[in-house]
Amino acid sequence: MDVPLPDPLRPRIARVRSTHREGPEVCTLELETDQDPPAGFAPGQFNMLTAFGVGEVPISFSGDPAEPRRVRHTVRAVGAVSSALVRLHAGAPLGVRGPFGTGWPLPEAAGRDVVLIAGGLGIAPLRPALYQLLGARSRYGRLTLLYGARGPRDILFRRELDAWRTRTDLTVEMTVDHAARPWHGHVGVVTTLIERARFDAQRTLALVCGPEIMMRFAAEALGAGGIAPEAIFLSLERNMHCGIGTCGHCQLGGLLVCRDGPVVRYARVRDALRVREL
Ligand SMILES: Cc1cc2nc3c(=O)[nH]c(=O)nc-3n(C[C@H](O)[C@H](O)[C@H](O)COP(=O)(O)OP(=O)(O)OC[C@H]3O[C@@H](n4cnc5c(N)ncnc54)[C@H](O)[C@@H]3O)c2cc1C
Ligand code: FES
Repeated sequence: MDVPLPDPLRPRIARVRSTHREGPEVCTLELETDQDPPAGFAPGQFNMLTAFGVGEVPISFSGDPAEPRRVRHTVRAVGAVSSALVRLHAGAPLGVRGPFGTGWPLPEAAGRDVVLIAGGLGIAPLRPALYQLLGARSRYGRLTLLYGARGPRDILFRRELDAWRTRTDLTVEMTVDHAARPWHGHVGVVTTLIERARFDAQRTLALVCGPEIMMRFAAEALGAGGIAPEAIFLSLERNMHCGIGTCGHCQLGGLLVCRDGPVVRYARVRDALRVREL
């Protein structure tokens, strides 16, 4: 007898195993599903999460792909659905569809230097890539993480960042836009860190995630530093509905971000990103 294939539009029921407050309005949810074996995911991919009775939104994986049973998503409360997700407590049910979309090009990064550039919540979709890079550290050249947050209290994954900063095989540079309370680090937008970073442009791959304006400026600064647009990858955000390339909600020029992205080569979207409101 044929086993029916899962319907990609029908959410599976999952439960919140635990929650961890990361910062103002930001929470990491660890989920448990009854999927056996677990679906697994590639760094950069996303799930569609349903807050029952409220709605469904795309949220990137933020956990370690080497631990597929620990599905983690880091959510910022910006509107109805994301706020409902952030309010969930351990044991609460939610809907999950995915994983969907393209991942960070880690196979392409083998033997090369990798610069990860995160703005604000953009550190969450990059964290699985960093776990994977560090998990097979000898495969890659120099690794650099440049992270910018609005202020000191907006810095996410603080304890992990502190641990990463003690490593000798990873360079971590952080900056904040404004520092109202004691802060001994760099102040300025994240692109100012690119100018200070040391990388060999010819052999570097750049992974960039954050607000779109920040990604555009970062890509331009990387280009000015000699990195080709083909070696720069961005994670795009668009409003999504189906998540599987059928409804057209997430169109950007000739791309459907849910299917052809969210991770795309800058060379492919540079012109579309220059057109406001596209
Ligand atoms: C591929 C992909 C991955 C994503 N990964 C994550 C993730 O890991 N964590 C996460 O928290 N969010 C992530 N997002 C964004 C998330 O999907 C949106 O924040 C969410 O859809 C907002 O829905 P809402 O109903 O809560 O708010 P809405 O009612 O849709 O929006 C409320 C207000 O917030 C603004 N808004 C909407 N989205 C954003 C945004 N992304 N940033 C700032 N303001 C916004 C709207 O313009 C509106 O003013 C991702 C989006 C995509 C496309
Ligand atoms: S969300 Fe439907 S096509 Fe992308």
